[in-house]
Amino acid sequence: MQISQLQQAAQYIKEGNVVAFPTETVYGLGANALDPLAVARIFEMKQRPSFDPLIVHIADLADLALLTTAKDERVYKIADRFWPGPLTLILPKTNVVPEIVTSGLPTVGVRMPDNPYALELIRRAGCPIAAPSANKFGRISPTTAAHVRKQLPAVPFILDGGRTKVGIESTIVILNEKGFDIVRHGAILKEDIERLVPYSPSTEINHTVLAPGMVKSHYSPAKPMYLSTHIPAHARNRADAGLISFSGKDTEGYKAVLRLTHSNDLFEYAVNLFAALHQMEEADVDYFVAETVPEKGIGLAIMDRLKKAAYRYKQ
Ligand code: TXA
Ligand code: MG
Repeated sequence: MQISQLQQAAQYIKEGNVVAFPTETVYGLGANALDPLAVARIFEMKQRPSFDPLIVHIADLADLALLTTAKDERVYKIADRFWPGPLTLILPKTNVVPEIVTSGLPTVGVRMPDNPYALELIRRAGCPIAAPSANKFGRISPTTAAHVRKQLPAVPFILDGGRTKVGIESTIVILNEKGFDIVRHGAILKEDIERLVPYSPSTEINHTVLAPGMVKSHYSPAKPMYLSTHIPAHARNRADAGLISFSGKDTEGYKAVLRLTHSNDLFEYAVNLFAALHQMEEADVDYFVAETVPEKGIGLAIMDRLKKAAYRYKQ
C-alpha cells in the first residue's frame, strides 16, 4: 500500500474535495460526509439527481453512534457479523448527518467497507466518507481506477487499489418491526442475514419510497445491450455482436465472447460483470448480449444489474 498516496487522498478529503477510492465492491466517489459543501461536489461531478441519497462509510464501529440514533440490538448483531463487508444498513439518522447526504430522508445508509485502502483513508481523513459509486449517474459502475478515469476525467484524485474483489455494490438492508428487508441485492445474501434476523419483506409500493435511488434504468453501457432471453429480431447478426457468457454454451458466430467464469461460479460472474460491460462498451462490436442466470442466491443481484443495464435498449 502506498502511504503517500493515501496521505494525499486524505488531505483532499480534509480540504473539502472529492476523491475516488476503492472499496471491496466498486470504486466510490468520496467526500467528508459531515460537510454539505463537499458532498455537493459529489452530486455535481456525477451529475446525480438530488433525490438519490448517498451511503456513508465508516472505519470503526464506534463511529456508528455519531450517525444513527438506533439502539436496536439487531443493528449491532448484523454489523458485528458482516462488517467490514458489502452490506449497507439503512438507519434513523442523527442531526449531524447533513440533509444533502440523505436527500432529506430521516434515515442514513451506513457501511464499513472491507478494503484496506478505504479503511485507512477514512481513518486518516478523520471523518466518515459519503460515497456513491464513482460513475456518471446511470452508467456502468467502476471496478478499476481506469473505469473511474474513463467516466469522471475531472476527478481531482484517484486512489488506485487495483481491481475490486466483490465487483457489485453492497446489499442494502432495512429493518422493520418484524425483521429485515433487502432494497438492493448484493453478495451478502438474504439467507446469510436470515441466520440472525427474520426476513420480513415490505410491499412493493413501500419499496419505491424506501429506496428512492432504485431506478429501472441504470448501469447503462454506451451501446445497445440485450439479455439472451430478449434478443430483438434486428439484432441477430452475431458477426457484429459481442456476448457475455456464463455457461460457455451457444457462443458460435459472435465477434467477441467474454466468458466470466470457467467453473459456473456465479460469484465469479458477479466479480467480473461490470468490467465486462466496460469492455464490451469499448470493443469493436455494434451491440452485445449478456447471458441471463437463475434468479437465486447471488443470481438475484446479477440479474438486477443486467436488467437495469439492458433497460434503455428494451423493445
Ligand atoms: O457497494 C456500495 O454500496 C457502493 C460503494 C461505493 O460503497 N456504493 C454505492 O452507492 O453503490 P450508490 O450511490 O451507487 O447507491 C446508493 C443507493 C441509493 O441509490 C439508494 O437507493 C440507497 O443506496 N440509499 C442510500 N441511502 C439511503 C437511505 N437513507 N434510504 C434508502 N436508500 C438509501
Ligand atoms: Mg451507483
